[in-house]
Amino acid sequence: KRLAILASGSGSNAEKIMEHFQSSDKAKIALVASNKADAFVLERAKKFEVPTITFTRKEMDAGDLLEKLKAEKIDWVILAGFLLKIPVELTRAFPDKMVNIHPALLPKYGGKGMYGSFVHEAVKAAGDTETGITIHLVNENYDEGRIVFQASVPLSESDTPDSIAEKVHALEHAHFPEVIEGLM
Ligand code: GRF
Repeated sequence: KRLAILASGSGSNAEKIMEHFQSSDKAKIALVASNKADAFVLERAKKFEVPTITFTRKEMDAGDLLEKLKAEKIDWVILAGFLLKIPVELTRAFPDKMVNIHPALLPKYGGKGMYGSFVHEAVKAAGDTETGITIHLVNENYDEGRIVFQASVPLSESDTPDSIAEKVHALEHAHFPEVIEGLM
């Protein structure tokens, strides 16, 4: 299987995935694509000799990204910290073959505006005693595709949005690559 990773930022999850599949015969990371020309994920991809592309929102909405994914014969699309809304044509081109990771226990803290630190701030503000990660398939409705995996971590009163983010990242790194492999 040929996988493409879409990421907008640091790409620590992308790195774990590239590491994991370096020696796998199930899947190959064939492309890292980012809407941010200066995203650190692009540096990480270089280290693993994974080809990269960048694109603008406009280009994505015009179908350029989909064309590229087709040209590269991509079977699965992995969203790892990708912050743009995916055009419907793109989700339709990969039915049950697009995976996203969300840094909370969906259906809590999902939907518009719930990404990155906003999620952890909301969890802190609510005084929740646990949070976690959700790995789900992507469909046309934001954050509502079939959930394939969740894991949780306890929180204490002394946790801050930053410490919550650290705990969540650790969970993501521990599980995301293997959950992807399980889907192949
Ligand atoms: C992760 O927490 C992921 O759940 C979220 O964006 C973050 C990306 O982190 N949607 P990184 O770029 O993989 O370090």
